[in-house]
Amino acid sequence: MSTYNPLAEALNKDLQDGAPQIFDMLSARGKSIYFPSKGILGQTAEAKGAKINATIGTAFEEDGSPLALECMEAMVNVPSESFLYASSYGVQKLREEWGRLLAVKNPGLRGKTYSLPVVTAALTHALSVAGYLFVDSGDTVILPDLYWDNYELIFNEACGAKFSLYNTFINGGYDVAAFSQALHAGGGGKKIVLLNFPNNPTGYTVTEDEAKALAEAIRGAAEDGSKIVVLLDDAYFGLVYEEGITRESLFSLLVDLHPNVLGVKLDGPTKEDYVWGFRVGFMTFGFHGAGDGQLKALENKAAGIVRGNISNVPNLSQSILLKGYTDADYAAQKKQKYGILSGRARKIRTVLEKRPEYARSFEVMPFNSGYFMCVKPIGVTAEAVRKELLANFDTGVIVLTGLIRLAFSSVPTDRIEDLFDNLHKAIQNLRLKG
Ligand SMILES: Cc1ncc(COP(=O)(O)O)c(C=O)c1O
Repeated sequence: MSTYNPLAEALNKDLQDGAPQIFDMLSARGKSIYFPSKGILGQTAEAKGAKINATIGTAFEEDGSPLALECMEAMVNVPSESFLYASSYGVQKLREEWGRLLAVKNPGLRGKTYSLPVVTAALTHALSVAGYLFVDSGDTVILPDLYWDNYELIFNEACGAKFSLYNTFINGGYDVAAFSQALHAGGGGKKIVLLNFPNNPTGYTVTEDEAKALAEAIRGAAEDGSKIVVLLDDAYFGLVYEEGITRESLFSLLVDLHPNVLGVKLDGPTKEDYVWGFRVGFMTFGFHGAGDGQLKALENKAAGIVRGNISNVPNLSQSILLKGYTDADYAAQKKQKYGILSGRARKIRTVLEKRPEYARSFEVMPFNSGYFMCVKPIGVTAEAVRKELLANFDTGVIVLTGLIRLAFSSVPTDRIEDLFDNLHKAIQNLRLKG
């Protein structure tokens, strides 16, 4: 006999009736979670507009406006309604606007079916909600060997998952064959894939051909009977600087790829719109043959997780974003900021071309997008270079999996030349010291 709450039972039934393969992709916690629509939130919603409303734990002035300290209110230029709780699903208008923007930014999504985005407390939280929904202790997450280190806390430590790491690069491009091999390893069954483009730490996004090849590899495994959850960490979406590199999220290819493939798009304004401290992100679901009932069931489960761990995402941040997205200058300003980052990426290319001697000091890893690029020092360890740069060159860098990660997003264009010069000199110094 099942021990699920009846509300979870109802969501599970929506999934089992319409898409049993998607139900099978859920973790044990994912199967038992539900949105508590009959509790405080549901009862509050029912009482909306009542003459006397003694439901939710917020406070109102005698005239019915939100009770707020005037000194706080004076600091923000959004309605004081944003001092109240947002829904656990997120501000409805923002969800709709982000969903609309998804199809503007990804023309391949137009006419395709996907859920309404559920708002999370930025990407880290979206990843963690995805872990809750899909990852059981002992499960394997398939990801490239160059990855954002926080995945370890989110998936290894919090969910108890193991990583199956495949080689990231081959011959200056993405090692799609290594990905495909990792995906097919161990035969069929449930698979969890995590893809991140533009990538942290490498700043690499797949080419259009590589994107198609990745999707084909996923389709092949699905046709062989695997049920595949593909988590797309699109944190740096839109920051692509070179030709031939895919400008769209892989979500466009995945939402109608195969019934056995669930695309879970995790994205948000953190890096895209330069609001790191706002803590707003989104989680959107899509799979071939998805019906409204199943997509709503997934949204409800995601919102139930939000309700259970942070209750809801800052309303103030969501209100500011919504205002920003509908501002007449939004697109032009975003383009201008993109120009700054793409200009830095171009500057790096120029510096590297101008200084062929750098090739004696470090190998440049493939990069074409995002906030970062990586180099592999020759003949010395990355950690020794990091320390030397800090001690003698007043320069800070990050070491990750044997590589040096350079966040050009943070370095003014006129310091980029010095950054590489310091790097070269630090490596040469260390080599001389032996
Ligand atoms: C690949 C990747 N995913 C997710 C995040 C986290 O983003 P957020 O600040 O929105 O939680 C980062 C931030 O560094 C990142 O590099």
